[in-house]
Amino acid sequence: MDVLQKNISKIQCLDLNRQHESIKGEIFRAFEEVYDQTAFSGGSFVEHFEREFAGLCRTKFAVGVNNGTSALHLALLALGIGPGDEVIVPANTFIATAWAVTYVGATPVFVDCREDTWQIDADRVEEQISLKTKAVIGVHLYGQPFDVDAVSQICANNGIFLIEDAAQAHGALYRKQPVGGFGEMGCFSFYPGKNLGACGEGGGITTNNEKYYTHLLSLRNHGCVVRYYHDEVGYNMRMGGLEGASLRVKLKYLPSWNDRRREIAKRYQEHISNEKFKMQFQPSWAESVYHLFVICTKDPVVLQKYLNEHNINPGFHYPVPCHLQKAYASLNYRQGDMPNAEYLASHCVSLPMYAEMTEEEVNRVIEVLNLY
Ligand SMILES: Cc1ncc(COP(=O)(O)O)c(C=O)c1O
Repeated sequence: MDVLQKNISKIQCLDLNRQHESIKGEIFRAFEEVYDQTAFSGGSFVEHFEREFAGLCRTKFAVGVNNGTSALHLALLALGIGPGDEVIVPANTFIATAWAVTYVGATPVFVDCREDTWQIDADRVEEQISLKTKAVIGVHLYGQPFDVDAVSQICANNGIFLIEDAAQAHGALYRKQPVGGFGEMGCFSFYPGKNLGACGEGGGITTNNEKYYTHLLSLRNHGCVVRYYHDEVGYNMRMGGLEGASLRVKLKYLPSWNDRRREIAKRYQEHISNEKFKMQFQPSWAESVYHLFVICTKDPVVLQKYLNEHNINPGFHYPVPCHLQKAYASLNYRQGDMPNAEYLASHCVSLPMYAEMTEEEVNRVIEVLNLY
């Protein structure tokens, strides 16, 4: 096969259709059950999913909410974090990690990532701790666990909380233990494109702490435990029944989907031999679920053009680090403050990565990249 031929179908960064086609019958049957029970908001489908998801994360509890941003927001509220407090956040993450800090009235304090793993740098965390610091949100970015022990130790030494942003890392393992149970709370997104994505929006919080669990149940439901009695200001952040039911169906497939992503990643790691690309370093204690497969290259726009010419559609995650986003201009960060995160932002390209990629497609990505 001429790998550079142009009349072949485009390989997308993510093709959600394929996943949904393969389980459409099952999903529609689950929707019918929700419909028959009119269990559209919360209810038994969500509760079953919560128990099963806690099982995956090996935590005592899981709370379903309406999206991953709300999961982070409620986690910070449950910890009592608010105005005047600081929360340390990696500069290279999806912006929602920082939004949650802003939503509760606290200040995000950004730290650089490590040059090799592209994960939050524990040494930089330590440098940024002040009397106002209440928590660190570590992000298992691209599906690869960050160095939990190093960050946990700093949190313990300074009496501050650790929250895991596991929005991209459903089923990832840190030292053989699933993510989501290391900090006070683990926050997940079930946005449709995630490794475990709802048919709709969704999010979840895992915890081993019953006090947080009961507080989260109230916070997501207008601050009430007994209907129409509001103990505190709460939110409507419940998970919908259709979302819960679709997540239950998909949760069964998650281990095999994650295995396939690992297989594809291994192929990329072993067969992309072009020295023009740099990959994320994988420490032996981190078992990634490869939500994204990001490489760094000198000029991502030139590579994008080349890949597009060869029917491959890459992504960029994320082109602007949080500390340089306009929304955070008032925090007065400058270009040069976080060299590793800035390098990553201006050199990153995400390769196609989803469980339903065919062998032929994986081979084509590898060959086209090696010919670049
Ligand atoms: C690292 C990270 N944190 C938080 C979120 C927010 O999740 P959601 O889009 O479900 O609100 C996402 C989702 O894109 C994410 O990737």
